[in-house]
Amino acid sequence: MTQDEMKQAVARAAVDYVKGGIIGVGTGSTANYFIDELAKVKGRIDGAVASSEATANRLKSHGIEVLDLNSVGGMEIYVDGADEITRNYHMIKGGGGALTREKIVAACAKYFICVADQTKLVDVLGKFPLPVEVIPMARSYVARELVKLGGQPKLREGFTTDNGNVILDVHGLSILDPVALESEINQLTGVVTNGLFARRPADVLLLGTENGVDTYKDI
Ligand code: 5RP
Repeated sequence: MTQDEMKQAVARAAVDYVKGGIIGVGTGSTANYFIDELAKVKGRIDGAVASSEATANRLKSHGIEVLDLNSVGGMEIYVDGADEITRNYHMIKGGGGALTREKIVAACAKYFICVADQTKLVDVLGKFPLPVEVIPMARSYVARELVKLGGQPKLREGFTTDNGNVILDVHGLSILDPVALESEINQLTGVVTNGLFARRPADVLLLGTENGVDTYKDI
């Protein structure tokens, strides 16, 4: 199986978790495959909350109603990919730059279903540069503080988030305590959020492998 075929396989498997109500939907190529599968069962759901403008557009193109998070009480599941995930379900996300909205929608869901291919499973987070969304005027200050934490921040050139901010991708971290580092970086003035999803990890991991989909669950 190619990496894309693994992504498609986990997207299909995630549909088993769609029982009805409102679905939270992530961003990225794996989430896009999930949206395409969700379209096939759209009669089952009342609508979706999108974690980015790109996801909202793809949902709408399939005729799936996109709801404002503020008009929704909560949701049973949030389905999204990851850039890295550990066996403790801690993740790095934000390769597509949608980390803040992803974290907000995930916070409102009872279960986070992570859909990923086997290349994303790691023992220690940090080989993938950690995205940090920053208010533009704080960019240099936050970069200096991230250096003090042992990272090498690089501005994601030519990229603005859906919230009008910039992203610093932090290289060179070996993240042994993701819960602590997530909090520490979020405490820096000017940081909107960072791509560590450890304080609220995934609950289910659907991992695409050459032999099919492996399911890891914490529920
Ligand atoms: C976007 C994300 C994505 O979930 C992450 O980058 C994985 O993407 P893909 O499914 O394309 O590999 O966090 O902000």
